[in-house]
Amino acid sequence: MVDKQVQQLIKDEEQREREGLELIPSENYVSRDVLDALGSIFTNKYSEGYPGKRYYGGQDCTDPLELLAIERAKKLFKADHANVQPHSGVPANEAVYYAWLEPGDTVLAMDLGHGGHLSHGNPMTRSAHIYNFVPYKMKDKTTGEIDYDNLIELARKHRPKIILAGFSGYPRELDYAKFAEAAKAAGPDTLLMADMAHIAGLIVAGVHKNPFDYGFHVITTTTHKTLRGPRGGLILSKGTVSTPLRAPEKTLENIPTLIDRAIFPGTQGGPHMHTIAAKAVAFEEALQPSFKVYAQAILDNASRLADELKKRGFVLISGGTSNHLILADVKESFDIDGKQAEEALDKIGLNLNKNSVADDPLPPFRPSGIRLGTPAITTRGLTPDHMQQIADWMLAAIQNRDNDAKLQELRQEVRAFALKFPLPSDDVKKA
Ligand SMILES: Cc1ncc(COP(=O)(O)O)c(C=O)c1O
Repeated sequence: MVDKQVQQLIKDEEQREREGLELIPSENYVSRDVLDALGSIFTNKYSEGYPGKRYYGGQDCTDPLELLAIERAKKLFKADHANVQPHSGVPANEAVYYAWLEPGDTVLAMDLGHGGHLSHGNPMTRSAHIYNFVPYKMKDKTTGEIDYDNLIELARKHRPKIILAGFSGYPRELDYAKFAEAAKAAGPDTLLMADMAHIAGLIVAGVHKNPFDYGFHVITTTTHKTLRGPRGGLILSKGTVSTPLRAPEKTLENIPTLIDRAIFPGTQGGPHMHTIAAKAVAFEEALQPSFKVYAQAILDNASRLADELKKRGFVLISGGTSNHLILADVKESFDIDGKQAEEALDKIGLNLNKNSVADDPLPPFRPSGIRLGTPAITTRGLTPDHMQQIADWMLAAIQNRDNDAKLQELRQEVRAFALKFPLPSDDVKKA
């Protein structure tokens, strides 16, 4: 590479990833094939529109590529329609809002402090300025159960146009049948939307339930978390597709068309074809039987890690986990805040993030909790037997957070351990 500054930063990042253990639950390590597709020549191409209906010439290779990605995505999620163009998770959610809502319409979504995502109604977002978000919450943070009676009550009272299931900081499975009940209470034109960004990989592998099996109309997701693809978004839906670029009536049958129009030209310009190439590769990887084994291993590792942390005095929101992520209240456990814990763990090469806990008395930049998960370390090859060691290191880093010499010693241990587990992108280039 001619640009030595950027080349050095890439090398440094590779070393950082290799010598540490990635516990941020929304991160993963992609394969060499995904990286190769992402760095491919498709980045040069403008392809505004959809296959067969583009605004530029020269689409000989982009049309079959996008169709391939679409077919694989539909197969993975058991969907009737897939839009593979969203640049990321937030644009995917915004496009669905734009497709279905009018300004001022109501969306019922999980409270941000109880696990929802910023794009589900945080007052700082553009969506929250346009639409009216009403939050639902957990009934009890010690079990993690959502207050479904209240959800149904809120649906009856506010008659939301969208009921949104999904989270970025919730360690349990959702009861999709209850959401369907809430939609019935809300009225016939309520869209059931699932933002499965965190658990898409678990769903496609069949180790978690698929919201489409419970009457959901739309699933949005990122492609880079448990799904282990490039950074990107994806929207899947049920329904028939008419001509994508004609203005259809806002009916549930027309959702696929409404979504296509909401992505382009509604909220995005040209699709990133190199990312779509990498999505297609990741989808094919996720269709393999080995991906099911991977997804089950994520769950096995998370459940064991949660047990090991509890044994060491970590208080966990909901008492454990049924998915890939764990939320620990470190304020209650060790009388430190999430930022202090994150910094101590960072110093020894265990990367995770500070996180608010339900009804957190502390502010978001110094919240009471930390959030961690197992998708990336599972890709790296760690098994449940390694979780005891990680829990030991976590406790030691927190207990010795003011002892630099001890933290250095722990850092060496983590580095020596991590180096035994190659990155999947180390695979030699295939022809
Ligand atoms: C549930 C959920 N939706 C959407 C997003 C946003 O994805 P992105 O950062 O790709 O825009 C995230 C990312 O953390 C998420 O957890």
